[in-house]
Amino acid sequence: MKFVILALLLSLVACEKTPFVESKTFAGGKVVDSATLNLGYTTYLEYCVQCHGANGDGKGVSWAGMYPAPRNLTQGLYKFANVPYGELPHDADFHRIIRKGLNGSAMLPWDISDERLDAVTQYIKTFAPQVWEGADKTLGTKIEATPDPYGPGKKAEAIARGAKVYHIVAQCTTCHRAYASKSDISNWNKEINGSPIASFDSNLYELKPQDSEYDYKVIPPDFTYHPLRSIFSTEDIYQRLLYGVSGSGMPGWKDVVADDDIWALTYYVESLRELKSNTQARDAFLKSIEGN
Ligand code: HEC
Ligand code: HEC
Repeated sequence: MKFVILALLLSLVACEKTPFVESKTFAGGKVVDSATLNLGYTTYLEYCVQCHGANGDGKGVSWAGMYPAPRNLTQGLYKFANVPYGELPHDADFHRIIRKGLNGSAMLPWDISDERLDAVTQYIKTFAPQVWEGADKTLGTKIEATPDPYGPGKKAEAIARGAKVYHIVAQCTTCHRAYASKSDISNWNKEINGSPIASFDSNLYELKPQDSEYDYKVIPPDFTYHPLRSIFSTEDIYQRLLYGVSGSGMPGWKDVVADDDIWALTYYVESLRELKSNTQARDAFLKSIEGN
């Protein structure tokens, strides 16, 4: 009897390792063979299942209480791909996100072989067949970066313009907090829109949690304090601003503000992010703006 059970168990395990017998065609006409999908499956069981769950729903054994929650991969919606809001990531996006991880979340950088990295990328697409499977599905469009009109020599100018774009032109403070005094914001409004600001919202200096397409509220980060998930360089800030954060309410800014202003915002956010490593400078800066 024992042997029968053992044999049964062994055959189950063997079967579990090769759940795919056929190739699949994913968005962009990518054909992936069953051996790759099976390698992706075993890689996923080894490294990803405890958070993202056996069926990809984001509810693996360790998901409870995690903020942000592990992505529900059955939704087929991803926050940090470099594609316009809601469109499908390219393999390079998944490779980057899995290799680098997402700062300040439980999604760590995964040091796996290139072969396994690509295999697990293909495998996680099978959790959301409604968006991925079929030759008719298309990948997200890429937006050409425009040349940086500032460069290191004009950094101060870029930051000064970025502050105005942030608070007045793009009104990032509808979700994020303000980083300027009320008198500066009012003067900038006069300069750009012709009149000073008569009264400010009481939550000007607060982060405003947003409803999202995930089943939790997303909190816009304070750039001087929180780790920014997908940001590892200044260039990453630029890319994030081009494309936005899908499903979280944060839109892409291409065609909403001028190309040069996306660069100005990039320098500005970077200048705020630099305060994160210097608590004294951060405290002094925040004290100087609030209440003025
Ligand atoms: C310890 C928990 C944990 C493990 C293990 C883990 N992840 Fe994640 N993962 C997360 C969390 C949390 C997020 C959501 C981060 C956020 O929303 O900012 C995430 C997000 C993602 C995303 C979405 C990225 C986007 O742009 O929205 C993908 C894809 C992903 N993980 C794939 C993987 C793969 C593949 C593995 C295994 C190699 C893995 N994860 C292992 C916790 C984990
Ligand atoms: C409609 C609300 C909303 C507006 C408007 C908005 N954001 Fe965001 N932003 C968010 C939310 C929410 C997040 C966090 C998303 C997440 O991690 O789930 C975010 C995240 C970010 C990030 C971090 C991305 C990362 O990788 O962690 C940057 C940088 C950013 N916003 C810059 C801006 C700038 C600059 C503007 C104005 C041009 C702006 N945002 C306007 C809601 C908004």
